[in-house]
Amino acid sequence: MSSDSYVGFFGLKDHPFSKEIVDRDLWLPSSKAALVSEMVEALEERTSVLLTGEPGVGKTCVLRVLRARLPEAGFRLTYCHNATLGRRDFYRQLCFALGLSPQSTAGAVFYTVATHVEDLAKERAHPVFLLDEAHLLHEQMLGHLHILLNYEWDSKALLSLILVGLPELHDLLQMRRYRSLYSRLHVRLHIDPLTPEDTAEYLRYRLKRSGVEREVFTQDAVAMLHEATTGGMRELDRLATGCLREAARKKKRLIERDLLPRVIDRDLIERDA
Ligand SMILES: Nc1ncnc2c1ncn2[C@@H]1O[C@H](COP(=O)(O)OP(=O)(O)OP(=O)(O)O)[C@@H](O)[C@H]1O
Ligand SMILES: [Mg+2]
Repeated sequence: MSSDSYVGFFGLKDHPFSKEIVDRDLWLPSSKAALVSEMVEALEERTSVLLTGEPGVGKTCVLRVLRARLPEAGFRLTYCHNATLGRRDFYRQLCFALGLSPQSTAGAVFYTVATHVEDLAKERAHPVFLLDEAHLLHEQMLGHLHILLNYEWDSKALLSLILVGLPELHDLLQMRRYRSLYSRLHVRLHIDPLTPEDTAEYLRYRLKRSGVEREVFTQDAVAMLHEATTGGMRELDRLATGCLREAARKKKRLIERDLLPRVIDRDLIERDA
């Protein structure tokens, strides 16, 4: 059976648990909506934000919702996800992302970025640098980033940083040597894993978006999926897709608990391979 065949078997419009979901279709339960509102408020106040959460809980998707929520006129968002660079290369990358010509020395690239931030202030556009995977930031960078927030003798908030990463980023930033940066991240947010109710709602939401509103997973099957994925959405996407595929092979339109052990075992084998 081809990988598309479960789509036809269940009468779906597309692959319901694909990462290729457009911004406007992202799932926004009240917990995530509240988080996005807090981030919007923080940016309106021109402060900086720390956002942490386990892999696959939806951090980057929250950034996408935020991007869609912010008025385009007032903010300039720059997204960076290659956090593994040293200081000079990091600022060079930022220059490229901002459409600036990078200079050769670390001091010169830093100056180019800082001048650009000051120019944007004159245009009344607040720059926001979103640093995803920030738990991977080089210690050189973590020790330096707060300097990028310092304008006019540290009296102007011309730039906001949003640092996004795994929970260890929070622990890392609490180390004494990073306290200058940590103390400037005024809003500290954490995304919790999905609750069992969230898991059920998410599955229904994504299936509905793909055109199927009837019950596809029984309550028991949802509970087992929740246990197996411990509230991680990427894990849930993968296992839910595995279930749809397996059910289509077996010509079952309702996914019950007994189908799951096979899907979970196969998933474990594939992951260990
Ligand atoms: N709000 C959402 N609406 C729809 N799907 C979502 C949403 N949040 C997460 N997902 C699904 O979960 C997957 C993982 O989410 P995301 O990439 O945002 O996690 P993450 O926390 O950034 O993970 P990592 O730490 O590994 O970068 C997405 O590819 C998407 O399929
Ligand atoms: Mg991510």
